[in-house]
Amino acid sequence: MSSTPQAAQSGKSAPDAHAARHDGAPPPSAMPEDSVVRAYDRYASLYDFVFGSVLEPGRRAMTQAAAALQPASVLEVGVGTGLTLAGYPAHSRVVGVDLSPDMLERARQRAAALPGRDIALHVMNAEAMDFPDDSFDCVTLPYVLSVTPQPSRLVAEVRRVCRPDGTILIVNHFSGSRFWWLMERAVRSMADRVGFRSDFGFEEHILVHDWQLQAVQSVNLFGLSRLVMLRNTKGPRNSRDSRD
Ligand SMILES: C[S@@+](CC[C@H](N)C(=O)[O-])C[C@H]1O[C@@H](n2cnc3c(N)ncnc32)[C@H](O)[C@@H]1O
Repeated sequence: MSSTPQAAQSGKSAPDAHAARHDGAPPPSAMPEDSVVRAYDRYASLYDFVFGSVLEPGRRAMTQAAAALQPASVLEVGVGTGLTLAGYPAHSRVVGVDLSPDMLERARQRAAALPGRDIALHVMNAEAMDFPDDSFDCVTLPYVLSVTPQPSRLVAEVRRVCRPDGTILIVNHFSGSRFWWLMERAVRSMADRVGFRSDFGFEEHILVHDWQLQAVQSVNLFGLSRLVMLRNTKGPRNSRDSRD
């Protein structure tokens, strides 16, 4: 992973990303949970056709980064139709969660085509997961952070279930990509309906948290998205007891 290491923000309590908005604007993701489920159930049959290839380089970079860590366990959040499942190491225990039963049904078919692999898939809201603290060595978030209803809640849950000093890998579009308009032009109406956003800030959603930023890599055509590697430096706030 070509990298741009930066010092993590640390020491002070991370402010809630939404609370930082003083302009009266709506929170960063406008889609409530039931809308996410409806949208992805509705578009599950088209998803791979529209977003499969165009976002594949980012997925591949993410699974390669995960594989290099040789993790015993991986949680993929927003596993969708399971496009990444084949890319994880064969020896890793892989758990995928998604809100949309129809997306997950396709992931189940992909998992069934990978015999001998330890893959478990659950319909679950990743903003309130059933897993105990520190359950996974590595947690991956391909194209889900800007779609989930409350990104800061998702981050809190991901940090809770990832073990201390485990790795969190995020692939997402962040505002500032000069070429986002190309993507929007290509698939605008569907992008709107599945909650993709062009105004998703790196500072507001990544730098605001007190995890350790290890590397950032531009991925996808024209550097449309970024792969972000984070070390899950944990404090007492990253446990179930502190969940709000
Ligand atoms: C843009 S798709 C990404 C799918 C897949 N990861 C990929 O690489 O193409 C976002 C997925 O995240 C799921 N999702 C959104 N919010 C979620 C949440 N809070 N918990 C679990 N899944 C969520 C959606 O149902 C959808 O399948």
